Amino acid sequence: MIVTVTMNPALDKTAEIARLEPRRLNRLSGVRVDAGGKGVNVSKMIKVLGGESVCTGFVGGGAGQELCERIERMGIRHRFLTVAGVTRTNLKIMDADSGLTELNEPGVAVTGAEMDALLEQTKDLAGPDGIVVLSGSLPQNAEAGTYRVFAEALKEAGCTVLADADGDSFKKAIEAPPDVIKPNRFELLQYYGLPQDTPDGELPSLCRKFLERGVAWVILSLGENGAMFFTKDRCVRAGTLPVEVRSTVGAGDSMVGAAAYALEKRMSFEETAKLAMAASIGAVTTEGTNAPSRELVGELMSRIALEEI
Ligand SMILES: Nc1ncnc2c1ncn2[C@@H]1O[C@H](COP(=O)(O)OP(=O)(O)OP(=O)(O)O)[C@@H](O)[C@H]1O
Ligand SMILES: [Mg+2]
Repeated sequence: MIVTVTMNPALDKTAEIARLEPRRLNRLSGVRVDAGGKGVNVSKMIKVLGGESVCTGFVGGGAGQELCERIERMGIRHRFLTVAGVTRTNLKIMDADSGLTELNEPGVAVTGAEMDALLEQTKDLAGPDGIVVLSGSLPQNAEAGTYRVFAEALKEAGCTVLADADGDSFKKAIEAPPDVIKPNRFELLQYYGLPQDTPDGELPSLCRKFLERGVAWVILSLGENGAMFFTKDRCVRAGTLPVEVRSTVGAGDSMVGAAAYALEKRMSFEETAKLAMAASIGAVTTEGTNAPSRELVGELMSRIALEEI
């Protein structure tokens, strides 16, 4: 079973406004609410591909209940642990003039015992050959090494672990190490403490260093410039395809979802890379973090070209 762990999920509230003005009363229109959180996005992609996953993590209060109901309505299983506090609502304001302003709440705090319970729950849900996706931010009071602890324990239990994190959480997780990581360009360079204008030519050697540390798959996503895929046997680069871009938010999550699905189906290196590309390119054609249709992913997949690095 694929388990997606979202420790700090959210209700994403997207609203429109003609012009956002600070220090004024701003009236929002076109307000829509979606189940958010990176693991939830990963599960949405897995579902589109015809796979099954179960979402877990922490929820609290009425917003937590609403989040669970929304996930259920999408036909996705969930087993969240209920904790004190209220699941966050993240407000995204689309301003016709100045673009997107995001106001993200910190989310719930959890105790050490609750974190231990989540790890046990994740192990139980995944089973011995399970695939576990750890993605997104941690609860506000959690140790930065939380993903490392989870990844080590889950690997020990026989699971395959995919981690998609940034900053300190990513840095510490690498010490486990996870089986699959998917940094974007920013996260990779931040990890190595390198300037963001480091030339692309230096990226492959930085990714290969993770393989030496025991990561089996490194997927480096480069936004509209495509992605690179590294295993000890093969390294390739793929460009994107021209599509109508609606929202790039969650494109990386779709890529992770497709990779988890491909791993479960034991797809070849080539198929895995192509599916991950197609799923993420498809994802940018939809509003918000909605997943693309399976037909579109299939059509895009047939057009992806891989180039050896
Ligand atoms: N503008 C775009 N056009 C086509 N494909 C895109 C575009 N932006 C992203 N993608 C696809 O999505 C993949 C992941 O994108 P990106 O590198 O932005 O991930 P990310 O920063 O992790 O995103 P997020 O964390 O919001 O999910 C890219 O490798 C690419 O295949
Ligand atoms: Mg990302």
